[in-house]
Amino acid sequence: MTIMKFASWGLLLGSAAARATFQPYNGVDDLGARALLPRNASFWGDIVATKVAARDALIPAEYLVPQDMLPDPSVDDISAFPFTSGLFTDLELEITESTASEVVKRVACGDWTAEEVLEATIKRAVVAQQLFNPLSEILFERGRAQAKKLDAYFAETGKTMGPLHGLPISLKDQFRFKGVDATIGYVSWANRPAEKDSLTVTALEELGAVLWVKTNIPTSLMSGETINNIFNETKNPFNRRLTPGGSSGGESSLVGFHGSFIGFGTDIAGSIRIPCTNTGLWCVRPSIGRCSYENLANSLRGEEAITSTCGPMGRSPDDLKLVFSSLVNKGLWEDDPNTIPMPWREDKEQLPEKLVFGWANGDGHVQPWPPVQRGMLETKAKLEAAGHEVVEWLPPSWYEHNTQMQNLFSVDGHLDIQTDFNASGEPFLPTIASYLAWVAPEDRPTVYESWQLVQVLQNYTQSFRDAWQGSANITSTGRPIDALIMPATSNVAKERGIAYPYGYGNLSPMLDLTTGVFPVTRTNSSIDVVNATFVPLNDADAKNQALYDDPTTWEHAPVGLQLIGRRLEEEKIVAMLKVIELALKA
Ligand SMILES: *[C@@H]1O[C@H](CO)[C@@H](O)[C@H](O)[C@H]1NC(C)=O
Ligand SMILES: *[C@@H]1O[C@H](CO)[C@@H](O)[C@H](O)[C@H]1NC(C)=O
Ligand SMILES: *[C@@H]1O[C@H](CO)[C@@H](O)[C@H](O)[C@H]1NC(C)=O
Ligand SMILES: *[C@@H]1O[C@H](CO)[C@@H](O)[C@H](O)[C@H]1NC(C)=O
Ligand SMILES: *[C@@H]1O[C@H](CO)[C@@H](O)[C@H](O)[C@H]1NC(C)=O
Ligand SMILES: *[C@@H]1O[C@H](CO)[C@@H](O)[C@H](O)[C@H]1NC(C)=O
Ligand SMILES: *[C@@H]1O[C@H](CO)[C@@H](O)[C@H](O)[C@H]1NC(C)=O
Repeated sequence: MTIMKFASWGLLLGSAAARATFQPYNGVDDLGARALLPRNASFWGDIVATKVAARDALIPAEYLVPQDMLPDPSVDDISAFPFTSGLFTDLELEITESTASEVVKRVACGDWTAEEVLEATIKRAVVAQQLFNPLSEILFERGRAQAKKLDAYFAETGKTMGPLHGLPISLKDQFRFKGVDATIGYVSWANRPAEKDSLTVTALEELGAVLWVKTNIPTSLMSGETINNIFNETKNPFNRRLTPGGSSGGESSLVGFHGSFIGFGTDIAGSIRIPCTNTGLWCVRPSIGRCSYENLANSLRGEEAITSTCGPMGRSPDDLKLVFSSLVNKGLWEDDPNTIPMPWREDKEQLPEKLVFGWANGDGHVQPWPPVQRGMLETKAKLEAAGHEVVEWLPPSWYEHNTQMQNLFSVDGHLDIQTDFNASGEPFLPTIASYLAWVAPEDRPTVYESWQLVQVLQNYTQSFRDAWQGSANITSTGRPIDALIMPATSNVAKERGIAYPYGYGNLSPMLDLTTGVFPVTRTNSSIDVVNATFVPLNDADAKNQALYDDPTTWEHAPVGLQLIGRRLEEEKIVAMLKVIELALKA
């Protein structure tokens, strides 16, 4: 029956040739021809054991912390370990505590070599690996070769090779490096080294960056926590009871721990933004096509209604600008037809002196937890104190559209994800199993039904636009709001295996809005107490708030918020993040 349906798609392709050659999708499309692995549990376990051992063999033994010096697993916040352990020299700490912008300056003036920056970074990342497991693939030798090359060039010419000369950059597991796996957690994708680098990888190296490691993800990427059957679980360095978020959780935890300066993640429903709020980082979820997605491993390949975008995750707005604008100006649209031909527009960074921020303390259906509410209030107060205007503004409701978006992710009946799991016989992870339970293959929407879902979202795009323009009615400037401040999730970093509502994060991908994230504070159980005056708006709201039962569980968890702009406003959002940074610091 299923085969019949697939076969009839062949007819839609129109030609006899297409009919004759069409094969049902078997999960091997962009990995080259290969036989599906047998379903055999001991066999997939062997693959994992071999793969993890091969990765661990690439860790320099001299950087490993002796077991008896590691903090007890019961210690939740290990973010200060590099300082308290006595394992790092002053120089190693100075280097790894620097921002990306500082690193490129210090290397460009000859204070530091690219090699010494990389070694300090590797050392910190190895400690990170022992403490909370953020790494997937190790490429230290590739990084070292690049650093050597950069230093030789600098010694010879006194010049840098590009704006990112000597800057170590980490990448989410989806990016491909020739000769290295990009499993995104699927056991069936192990030992299938990439045939060539992703375009972004090549571009970053040409700009002088040192690429040296890939970071962990949840299998298939469709999960808000970072765990898979190959590399296991990544935890949050600020509180190891919690996840660093997902799917870019390896990246967010490593950069948050200062085991990397900046990295790239991807986001289809919050996968850059939520991990950044969970680990105290800055980021941009760009509009589709502003970063090249060429030759990245992915799931939901071919799903076009709402697609994933890649973007930078870092420790300051200046760092985002440095790396992102350099990459955009590399002009990857020449090689990647899906990248928008638009250089970095400096003029869009010019902002009016007084900005007007919309402020939405939730989505009107689920209220944020107390630490997030405090972050919202503190941000409002600081921006007002800095002379900006903050107006309460809630977009037209998109609550129902969360369901429509989920349905659009499921139009294949999850055959895509199931096939790649099943190819090795590895079991579904609990979070993935609940994701797959959304729709059984036989209940998937028809193409006609999918088109209706797309239309609903298209209509919402227009109402959202009209309402945004209409916000001019409530600002003192007579202009619509410049951007909208809203939590990225109602909660702070979650405990593994618990389902939380994701609605806040869906707005931006639904409308392809450029969206930044900024850190505000950390959870403090003595002030972020259970809300005694809470009045639920509905059952979902009651359930969500009830999860915040013992604030000490979330002690020290970072709180970050979203800064939502309009489509293709990357330059303006990065400039506004800088304004927010100054206001929050004041
Ligand atoms: C699983 O695969 C391994 C390796 O190919 C093989 O030795 C073993 O007999 C298989 N086990 C089962 C239960 O089929
Ligand atoms: C996965 O990590 C957890 C700790 O986070 C550990 O208890 C478990 O044994 C690990 N599983 C494997 C297969 O290594
Ligand atoms: C994958 O395996 C599960 C569990 O055995 C099964 O229910 C499902 O039908 C399989 N899906 C595909 C696409 O093979
Ligand atoms: C979209 O909006 C148009 C015009 O208002 C309306 O006719 C149509 O029914 C809407 N479609 C959906 C699926 O809501
Ligand atoms: C803005 O104000 C004008 C004039 O009062 C009104 O016609 C319009 O509906 C308002 N727009 C919105 C979105 O509130
Ligand atoms: C938490 O809040 C209490 C009460 O305001 C304050 O004394 C304490 O310093 C705060 N802790 C941190 C780590 O900021
Ligand atoms: C407590 O709940 C009330 C009503 O639901 C809400 O208005 C208020 O902002 C909440 N306060 C905190 C600190 O979460």
